[in-house]
Amino acid sequence: MLTNLAEKPADKILALVAQFRSDPRPEKIDLGVGVYKDANGNTPVMRAVKAAEKQLWEQETSKSYVALAGDPAFSDAMIGLVLGDAVARDRVAAVATPGGTGAIRQGLELIQMASPDATVWLSNPTWPNHPSIIQYLNIPSKPYRYFDADTRGVDFEGMMADLEQVQPGDVVLVHGCCHNPTGANLNPAQWDDLIAVLKSRGAIPFVDIAYQGFGDGLEADAALTRKIAAALPEVIVAASCSKNFGIYRERTGILMAVSADATGTDLTQKNLAFLNRQNFSFPPDHGARLVTMILTDDALRTDWEAELEEVRSGMLGLRQSLADALRAETGSDRFGFLADHRGMFSRTELTPEQVVKLREDHAIYMVGDSRMNIAGLNAQTVPVLARAIAAVSG
Ligand code: LMR
Repeated sequence: MLTNLAEKPADKILALVAQFRSDPRPEKIDLGVGVYKDANGNTPVMRAVKAAEKQLWEQETSKSYVALAGDPAFSDAMIGLVLGDAVARDRVAAVATPGGTGAIRQGLELIQMASPDATVWLSNPTWPNHPSIIQYLNIPSKPYRYFDADTRGVDFEGMMADLEQVQPGDVVLVHGCCHNPTGANLNPAQWDDLIAVLKSRGAIPFVDIAYQGFGDGLEADAALTRKIAAALPEVIVAASCSKNFGIYRERTGILMAVSADATGTDLTQKNLAFLNRQNFSFPPDHGARLVTMILTDDALRTDWEAELEEVRSGMLGLRQSLADALRAETGSDRFGFLADHRGMFSRTELTPEQVVKLREDHAIYMVGDSRMNIAGLNAQTVPVLARAIAAVSG
């Protein structure tokens, strides 16, 4: 039986991780997978996470099952963090999921159960897991324009023109902040136009927010998601704690579904618990418990927010110094967009050949679509990268 299996294409981000690990060159630089690294190239456990783990180790008396939806206190804390008071709590159904990808998967299955013919619209480009899971589930999907390869900003006219084609009941997947892979984000005036078109087309927005706190700050990064949730009757939101709590391997995420009223919430909550039961039964608890402790304890929360702010401002500083170094190396402003992008990633629009040359000649790894992880840089590697990009791009 097992010999009947077909080969599956390797995930391009994870394949790059393996390739980087096996590269013997000591000067190699990893700008691939979306993992934060400090100035020494380490991915530290955040201070508040360590402190919460210590408390948990002392206080936890049982590892028995929690609930299919996870701990309601985790849902409450995350709904507060992401949605604030944008919608009444009794309009939000929520389940803990294994990471942000788990939330995307549960959200797509929920859509499929509720509306099997709905088309899911995806920004072009988007994070590879979006189309990959959608195709795996046989969900109809269409792209909408998003990135302008010339300006490296948002092709807003193209985006709006494509979203005018959305049919009532279709789902539009929106990146809540720090668009992955491009780093190019809508501005607040454009949010209003986006919300207006979603409303007028009768679309259901599905917001993927995996980098809250990495762009302009915790509150600012949640603003688009909150505006969407406040404006439309039904909204789905997938949030990840991997990046902003640095708990990648704990697999901590949440799927939230906003219904028009409390009766809809009750039905959705039961369906979400059912879906968890079918796919993995109980969601992982350890990371969710840490997040709940941090978000509900003043001292832990203050320290977490302070460290997240250090991470965010560090990335912004790296963006600016890379843009400056590239201006000096190339004598032009063509990489100025790096300072305007937000979050971990920037799509540079280097050609596939140039990306290969960076890897082969300079031991610098970025994803083949020219996405680089800014957090993979430090003060020493910024000038190295700038020289290498200038060398390969002529
Ligand atoms: C990324 O985009 O690099 C991360 O979110 C890691 C992943 O799971 O693909």
